[in-house]
Amino acid sequence: MNINEIRSKYLAYFKARGHAVIPSSSLVPQNDPTTLFTGSGMQPLVPYLLGEPHPEGTRLTNSQKSFRAEDIDEVGDNRHTTFFEMLGNWSLGDYFKKEQLSWFFGFLVDEMGIDPKKLYVSVFIGDEKNGVPRDTESAEIWKQLFAGKGIDAGIVEIGSEADGSRLGMRSAHSTGSGQGRIFYYDASKNWWSRAGTPENMPAGEPGGPDSEVFFDFGTPHDPKYGAECHPNCDCGRFLEIGNSVFMQYLKQSSGSFGLLPKQNVDFGGGVERIAMAANNDADIFHVDVFADTIALLEHFSGKQYDDSRYQRSFRIVADHIRAATFMLADGVRPANTDRGYVLRRLLRRAAQHAQKIGIEHDQKEESMLSRCAAIIIEKYKQAYSELASEDAYKMITEEIWKEEKQFGRTLVHGMREFEKLAARGHITGAEAMELFTTHGFPFEMTVELAHERGIDIDEEGFAIEMKKHQELSRAGSEQKFKGGLADVSEKTTRLHTAHHLLLKALQMVLGPHVKQRGSNITQERLRIDFNWDAKMTPEQLAQVENIVNQRISEQLPVVRSTLPKAEAETLGAEQEFGVKYPEQVSVYSIGPEGATEVKPRYDEAFSIEFCGGPHVANTSELGTFKILKEEAVATGIRRIKAIFLI
Ligand code: ALA
Repeated sequence: MNINEIRSKYLAYFKARGHAVIPSSSLVPQNDPTTLFTGSGMQPLVPYLLGEPHPEGTRLTNSQKSFRAEDIDEVGDNRHTTFFEMLGNWSLGDYFKKEQLSWFFGFLVDEMGIDPKKLYVSVFIGDEKNGVPRDTESAEIWKQLFAGKGIDAGIVEIGSEADGSRLGMRSAHSTGSGQGRIFYYDASKNWWSRAGTPENMPAGEPGGPDSEVFFDFGTPHDPKYGAECHPNCDCGRFLEIGNSVFMQYLKQSSGSFGLLPKQNVDFGGGVERIAMAANNDADIFHVDVFADTIALLEHFSGKQYDDSRYQRSFRIVADHIRAATFMLADGVRPANTDRGYVLRRLLRRAAQHAQKIGIEHDQKEESMLSRCAAIIIEKYKQAYSELASEDAYKMITEEIWKEEKQFGRTLVHGMREFEKLAARGHITGAEAMELFTTHGFPFEMTVELAHERGIDIDEEGFAIEMKKHQELSRAGSEQKFKGGLADVSEKTTRLHTAHHLLLKALQMVLGPHVKQRGSNITQERLRIDFNWDAKMTPEQLAQVENIVNQRISEQLPVVRSTLPKAEAETLGAEQEFGVKYPEQVSVYSIGPEGATEVKPRYDEAFSIEFCGGPHVANTSELGTFKILKEEAVATGIRRIKAIFLI
């Protein structure tokens, strides 16, 4: 089965069960500073999981483009990828455990034709300290679902991951019968939030116990991973193919847990992994979308994917080019910071591994990596219209080619640095790290060249340096996690409303063609990127500030409405660049005095934007608005950072 079929079937299945099919959000999170990239289907829906009504109702489904940078170094085995499509369905205070588990099981078994004997599940063991009970309800539902297929499912108490190797598949007890099939694990495995375990969650973050489904490839257990096998064992026998999160809890500032206004379901399952289970094939790179890229690479390199010397490189190229293609389509460009750096790293690693399988970098020929991207575009353009236009094709293939050429030059430069070090007969860990961070020279290349020439290289020292480097960047991202609009803290919400006022003020001062090109709002400050060619003058900045402060002092009401998309467009409501909106949209308008939800008086509103919220109810809740900085971030794109003075 190919991924286009599986995606269509999944969406149709949930549509038939009352779900609205909503579009995928961009890989670049909107109004969410918690991560660089959208990494799960729930991320764009956080405001709704926290209680805002969603314009499309209480049952939603989609396939969300997702990217997890933390998996870059894992790519190369038979299951990890950086980019994936997450099939998702959500209940916003609507159905709960019984429907969710039965539907997903029904989808796998009845729609995908997966043998239920190959499915295993996990449930949450409970967390007394945080007042979260053991999920006996889900265990009971699973027991009945399996019984309905003639399977006597035994229940196993694993607890922590460490116990897994002691208490494996055979230790079914509690229910006294059947082989172990339903496994209780603790929060390290069966709790989900964007920040991980209950302890790691910041205040304001939603989360809950979850129940995962695993597919059994039937490969023999490798005792290297523990005496006994179990679904979360790393030996490769089992693959997680879907996760139903019961989003009920909200971390309080006191550190304890409270209940969310409603009981939600947040389900996510990788479409590629479901394809692996449906095809009973343990290699994710055999899924059609990768297989085609790999066939092209085989053709041009004359090497075989099955050759263990090259397999890892084939996989890295196939994965990275797919991820890069989607990032480019969502407006990311290669750069040395943030998202742009991740994209650059993907493209350079892809180029390097293409070389490894014998595809030479050639400045004159058409780029091989661009050809791989063309395959990806072809595969996905029906489902993701941002890939479909001629312009998108041209931009993506050209950007990849450009980066490949630039990398070629970096390699020449890096080689010179390498030669200097090599002349001394040895390379320390710190020097290899410097080659990597400062000169962009990949470590794998340093090692390979050093080995070829019989030069000493301190690989352990490099590993230590790398760890330090990663800890530093992790500390950076934890910092990032603090606050942000997604946490709906009061401070962030106030800055969000000011953000709307600011965009309108910029349009009044610079012209109506000024559009938002990015935004990021934390508790400390707001940031907006917009299209404008020149540095703003001090007068323009003062004018913008004055307009915003004027509206704040006018005490204007902020009104939320739900409208058909076409109607909101007719009103001229501001849309976010590159976002695809569903048929029903949520709109926020600010002013005039006296406007209410019943009578929004759009004609006289100061600002109208497509937006999911949240916002303050009245601009009087805002402080004195102050622009801190105005700077260029890219050609034709300016950035403003602003705060409230009080
Ligand atoms: N949000 C859940 C996950 O990403 C479904 O696993």
